[in-house]
Amino acid sequence: TTKLIIDTDPGIDDAMAIFYAAAAPDIELLGLTSIFGNVTTEMAARNALRLLEAAGLDLPVAQGAPKPLELPPFPPSANVHGDEGFGDIPAAEPKGKIIEEDAADFLIRMAREHKGELVVCPVGPLTNIAIAIQRDPDFVHNCKNIVIMGGSLEEGGNITPHAEANIYHDPHAAEVVCAAGGNVTLVGLDVTHRILCVPEDFDAIKAASPELGGMLKQMSVFYIKFYQEVAGLNGCSLHDPAAVICCTHPELFETRAVPITVSCEGETSGATLLSDDAARGVTHVAMKVKADEVKDLFMKRLALLP
Ligand code: BDR
Ligand code: CA
Repeated sequence: TTKLIIDTDPGIDDAMAIFYAAAAPDIELLGLTSIFGNVTTEMAARNALRLLEAAGLDLPVAQGAPKPLELPPFPPSANVHGDEGFGDIPAAEPKGKIIEEDAADFLIRMAREHKGELVVCPVGPLTNIAIAIQRDPDFVHNCKNIVIMGGSLEEGGNITPHAEANIYHDPHAAEVVCAAGGNVTLVGLDVTHRILCVPEDFDAIKAASPELGGMLKQMSVFYIKFYQEVAGLNGCSLHDPAAVICCTHPELFETRAVPITVSCEGETSGATLLSDDAARGVTHVAMKVKADEVKDLFMKRLALLP
């Protein structure tokens, strides 16, 4: 099994990814860390606790950085994920509490305790990961790998013409991560835009898993409405679930190993670009995906939930 921590801003597709990880027999989820993006960092921690409680998992949640490394804070993406992250499902107070350690310290400690085994899957802006790298130069090397939902090489952006949202929201952090010399994979729009779930898929998920799948169905209605408005699509991309699935099923993805740099300025800010710095280590960028197989796994495993 894969020892996994998801760094997350739940978020509708984040909820899908977390429930997937809860159901997957080949994943040992060690905890969640929260980050701003779809909601504030605080709300992300609260939502992470709620999702774990819904899935019957008693695991640590560590709260992350309140804002990007260098950019000023920005408003959450309420138009995409709803005011409180789960579409029109109202917020509820979780029973549990966040742990005292912050996200970066928790990640550093877990990477040491599970040296060479821990997979970190960031599915929000990369601020916590960059802070962990800055606090502990061994962090990236202690991790088995870091599999990120973020970026785009050929597909163009989703928040600007050039940038994918997670990278755009903290490009400086993404640059730190891509320059750190670790084993880093980017699962970005080049592949996540190929994996589409339509309303009927969520009906099937709900039929198989009335409780948790039912929650995802309700959230998906809000999410798909957004996709319909901006892209005319009657479905949504499985962004965050794709990154989690890549952690255990890399064979479903074809990657390009290239040095990557992140634009931190101007109209291209947040773009992931090929770097001509040969000294920089490579990042594994997912360019192709066996989309049907990823979607199949997603549906089959969610069906295992109550
Ligand atoms: C990413 O941005 C967020 O809105 C989603 O949760 C996903 O992590 C897609 O660009
Ligand atoms: Ca996310």
